[in-house]
Formats: sequence, structure tokens, C-alpha cells
Amino acid sequence: MKNLKNKKAIITGGSRGLGRATAIAFAKQGIDVGITGRNEDTLKATVAELKGLGVNAEYEVFDVGNYEEVKAGIDNLIKKLSTVDILVNNAGIAAFGTLNDMPVEEWSKIIQTNVMGMYYVTKEVLPYLIDKNEGDIINISSTAGLNGNATTSAYSASKFAVIGMSESLMKEVRKNNIRVCTLTPSTIASDMSIDLGIADKDSQDSVLQPEDFAELIVAGLQLPRRAMLKSAALWSTNP
Ligand SMILES: NC(=O)c1ccc[n+]([C@@H]2O[C@H](COP(=O)([O-])OP(=O)(O)OC[C@H]3O[C@@H](n4cnc5c(N)ncnc54)[C@H](OP(=O)(O)O)[C@@H]3O)[C@@H](O)[C@H]2O)c1
Repeated sequence: MKNLKNKKAIITGGSRGLGRATAIAFAKQGIDVGITGRNEDTLKATVAELKGLGVNAEYEVFDVGNYEEVKAGIDNLIKKLSTVDILVNNAGIAAFGTLNDMPVEEWSKIIQTNVMGMYYVTKEVLPYLIDKNEGDIINISSTAGLNGNATTSAYSASKFAVIGMSESLMKEVRKNNIRVCTLTPSTIASDMSIDLGIADKDSQDSVLQPEDFAELIVAGLQLPRRAMLKSAALWSTNP
């Protein structure tokens, strides 16, 4: 297993849910972590938790859907961490509604956050990984990125796009020793799934937990560099 100690990771949406669990799992491996989000209070609380695990932890507040904010935020975060080895493109939003009922602004915001946000962040981090001729990018799609369902048109469109962008990037940067992994988790208990009414935080034995997802990411990173986890789905055993 590859030792990940002293690597530097950026996790978008690292303050809550899957991103926070990943940040904690990284810190337990000795990885220094920079997390991002829009709410400074939750970022500060998670950073304090990460520092308690003995690693350097930093945060930057920005909206991934705003390119000017992303440019400044990623630049600051990489300066604070001194470099970057791993990017987890996790920040995302979801809302369900029929194509006609969902307001245009809401539909657009899902695409702007989940697709453009991932593109903006990756565009700012990628040159550092190419310069090092080594790196890892983990992009979070969803089972909704493999199948459309009634009322998921915006979310599914965004998560299908993530898979296309991610696979294309993987083929572009394999030659640079950069591994790009696309994950398609099923429902995991988090604010997002609880707010959507598709998970119940009390059903810990049957519903996937953010920690399960974080373990998968760490396992992928621990593979020898010659091996790349290209894509993976995470399902609950007995929902
Ligand atoms: N939970 C599931 O069942 C599930 C299943 C499959 C895939 N996913 C995907 O996994 C990822 C994480 O989901 P989650 O369940 O952990 O969601 P969550 O609990 O709602 O957390 C979302 C995180 O993203 C950040 N974020 C949201 N919009 C942002 C924006 N515009 N700019 C910057 N940061 C933003 C949030 O921080 P702030 O609020 O502070 O901005 C928060 O840290 C998402 O991409 C989601 O689509 C989730």
C-alpha cells in the first residue's frame, strides 16, 4: 500500500457530508488538507477537527460556480498548503422537480455548481499536477449520472456531464502520471440526501455513511501508481 503521509489534498465541499468524511480519512493518513465551501463557520469547525488529528489543515471560502472566486481561492489555498497532490471534486448541490416545474434559475444553478464548478476548480489545479508529473483527481458523480429518473433532469444532466468530463480528462492526462477517478455513489446519509428525503440519518445499518465513501477514496489512492481506479460505484448492501 502506498504511503500517503505528507501529501497535500484539496477537497471542495470539505466542510460537511462526504467531503468532510474524506478530509478526516485523509488526515488519519497524514495528508495535509485544504477544504473549501461557502459557509465559513462549518469550514472553521472542520479545520479545527482536522488539526486535532495532527495535520496541517486550511480552508478557503468561495462558490465553485464563480470562476473569479475559484481562481483566487485555489491560488490562496495552494499557497497555504505549499503545493497540491490530490484534488477531490466533491462540492455539489441537488434538487428534484419536473423539468417544467423547476425554475430555470434553479436548473441552471445545479449545472453551474456541479459541472462548471468542477471544470473551474480542475482548470486551476491541473497545471500544478502536470508540472509535478504526478497527481490524483477524484470526481464525484452519482448513480444519477448513470440513469435519469423522473424529477432528476437537472441533477442527472449535471452528473452525466461529470462522467463525460472526467473520462475525457483521464485520457488527456494519463501520460502525465495523473490518475483521474470517477465515482458514482448511491445514496449516502448526508445533509443533501436527508434534505431530499431519500436517506434517514438513523438507519446506519442499511444506509451508506460518508465514512464508507471516504474509505473507498483512500483505498484508490493507496494503489501503486501504476494502477488507477478508473471508476467505481458504491451501493448499500441491503437498502
Ligand atoms: N449524499 C448522497 O446520497 C450522494 C450520492 C451520490 C453523489 N453525491 C455527491 O457527493 C457530493 C457531496 O454530497 P454531500 O451529500 O456530502 O452533500 P452535502 O452534505 O450537501 O455537502 C455539500 C458540500 O458542498 C459544498 N458546496 C455546495 N455548493 C457549493 C458551492 N456552490 N460552492 C462551494 N461549495 C459548495 C457545501 O458547503 P457550503 O454549503 O458551505 O457551500 C458542503 O461542504 C456532491 O457532489 C453530491 O452530488 C451525494
